[in-house]
Amino acid sequence: MKEKLKVVIPEEDLKSKVSSLALQISNDYRGKELVLICNLKGAIIFLADLMRKITVPVSIDFIATSSYNGMETDGDVRIIKDLKMDIRDRNILIVEDIVDTGYTLDYIIKYLSLHKPRDIKVCTLLDKKSKRQIEVPIHYTGFVVDDVFLVGYGLDYNEKYRELEYIAELSLERE
Ligand code: IMP
Ligand code: MG
Repeated sequence: MKEKLKVVIPEEDLKSKVSSLALQISNDYRGKELVLICNLKGAIIFLADLMRKITVPVSIDFIATSSYNGMETDGDVRIIKDLKMDIRDRNILIVEDIVDTGYTLDYIIKYLSLHKPRDIKVCTLLDKKSKRQIEVPIHYTGFVVDDVFLVGYGLDYNEKYRELEYIAELSLERE
């Protein structure tokens, strides 16, 4: 199959959205310290851009979850890389690339809650709202997107396309 890309969110739109999210977050957390928790690998580019625009002190940590195979999720989420930081009594902001069914985020929130942080909020760059299977709280959303498969700006298809500066729709066509 031939992989075809169509730009859905250009670089400039991503840049201005990241700045406005960072401004909102900086205002909401004024006078507080913030721990950004990034779910690897898709959210790393977003995290790197977002954290540099946030004006309150931030620390970062990473977890990794697995459940995706190619274009399909099966809802069976597992932690494959754990936190390093002690997050007890800290203000946590989960940074996600995309929320689709919601199973991943739901699992992460439940998992992080076990560590007794002061507060858990969620920032996602993309929200595939129409695909939601389980209700999850999202406090900061970049873009609501259609139910198409997206790559770029951290998002991959079988580990490809993460390095694109924009977000594109991927379609597979018969050669
Ligand atoms: P959920 O558990 O179905 O909400 O899936 C969330 C995870 O699936 C995200 O963190 C992404 O890694 C991945 N994902 C969902 N939709 C897409 C997509 O369109 N492109 C690339 N990855 C996706
Ligand atoms: Mg992924």
